[in-house]
Amino acid sequence: MKEEEIRILFTEYNDIKELSADDRKVAEASLEAAKKAYAPYSEFKVGAAILLSDGTIVRGANVENAAYPSGSCAEKTALSYTVSNFPELHSVTISIAAMSGDNLTDEPVPPCGNCRQMLLEEEQRLGREIRIILVGSKRVIVLKSSGALMPLQFTKKNLKRGNNEQ
Ligand code: THU
Repeated sequence: MKEEEIRILFTEYNDIKELSADDRKVAEASLEAAKKAYAPYSEFKVGAAILLSDGTIVRGANVENAAYPSGSCAEKTALSYTVSNFPELHSVTISIAAMSGDNLTDEPVPPCGNCRQMLLEEEQRLGREIRIILVGSKRVIVLKSSGALMPLQFTKKNLKRGNNEQ
């Protein structure tokens, strides 16, 4: 028997003004994306912006539906657009921002489990890490890899018969 520990490292900033110019640009794009959310049921508007390896920024917002499970999270919207339109480009950074009412939330909003799984798949598809910026008005968190948010990952490796290695 042995006990194991998984640690994640992240950097915290007080404000998006402290970020690098590239990070600030993608963070601001995620805020702009949140303003375009269609969220009449939850009234929780989320925006995601993905900086691609050629400098393109793809934006996505949550899109809700009267049949609740039919909606899409902001990260899923942005990532699905990216993979279907720019399959050869690497997603360098994704930024996520959410609004309560007309304002950016105080605390950063982390991606839901399903979106974490989607980000993990994209990291594995191209074999490149996707940096992640979580924007709040009180603090901003930056992680070097989205996969870091998914310890004990379920990936395509697990689908291979007899192969349960992580
Ligand atoms: N939502 C996102 O867009 N991203 C997340 O990671 C968490 C939740 C959306 C889904 C739904 O439209 C609303 O926020 C409330 O859950």
